[in-house]
Amino acid sequence: MKRFSLPRSAPEVYAQFQNLPLRERFHVIARASSAPLDAVAARVPSGRIAEVGCGHGLLSAMIALRDPDTKVIGSDPDERKMTWANQGPGRLPNVEFYPGSAKELLDLHRGSFDAVVVSDVLYLFPFDRWPEFLEDLRQLLRPGGLLVLKEVEGDRSWRHRKAIVQEMVMTRALGLTKHTGVAVLLPRKEFGPILEKAGFDSMETYDLARGYTTPHILYTARRAA
Ligand SMILES: C[S@@+](CC[C@H](N)C(=O)[O-])C[C@H]1O[C@@H](n2cnc3c(N)ncnc32)[C@H](O)[C@@H]1O
Repeated sequence: MKRFSLPRSAPEVYAQFQNLPLRERFHVIARASSAPLDAVAARVPSGRIAEVGCGHGLLSAMIALRDPDTKVIGSDPDERKMTWANQGPGRLPNVEFYPGSAKELLDLHRGSFDAVVVSDVLYLFPFDRWPEFLEDLRQLLRPGGLLVLKEVEGDRSWRHRKAIVQEMVMTRALGLTKHTGVAVLLPRKEFGPILEKAGFDSMETYDLARGYTTPHILYTARRAA
């Protein structure tokens, strides 16, 4: 099992959050040590990148720091988190944050992104709202652009059950994440048809669970021509 440790990019990444209050810095450290965000960032190409549901901007910071020529535009409907993100990695010259979700970004940047990154956000939507959200993500991408979708797999393991309890604590008990009261965790075999129907192709799956107590999984797919 993974021992508590910080990702390799830690010193540079953490420096972005040093102005934040201790509680927020702790949140960022806890997130970095419990999810393989550095492995997600490594799958993001250079160019114009959107991160939808970026929270404090930890993953946006990792992406931006990997390549100063990459421009990252993050959004999150939680205005408190956008305040922290702006006071943190929002000071980097290649990062901008806006309050809102994919729709608000669409108003400004339709069809302009080389990649759209969505990490642990889709499963917070009720399943009947997935098609509309995926359509917004598709429209943010240029044709051929890459969707980088980090999810938690519903693999019926103890890790799956633990992840559901953890989500309930984070959302309902602690109120740390804006939510609709659901955690739709699907097995990987269901994602191919869902993404294809939503207008994506060339799907790849990366198992990122090794060493974690959560069944982390990453899907990438391209906006179909
Ligand atoms: C588990 S956190 C993940 C944060 C960040 N993506 C990461 O991986 O560290 C889920 C985030 O989704 C955001 N969120 C909730 N509903 C959303 C929506 N409708 N659209 C976009 N983001 C949403 C929450 O505010 C929260 O910051």
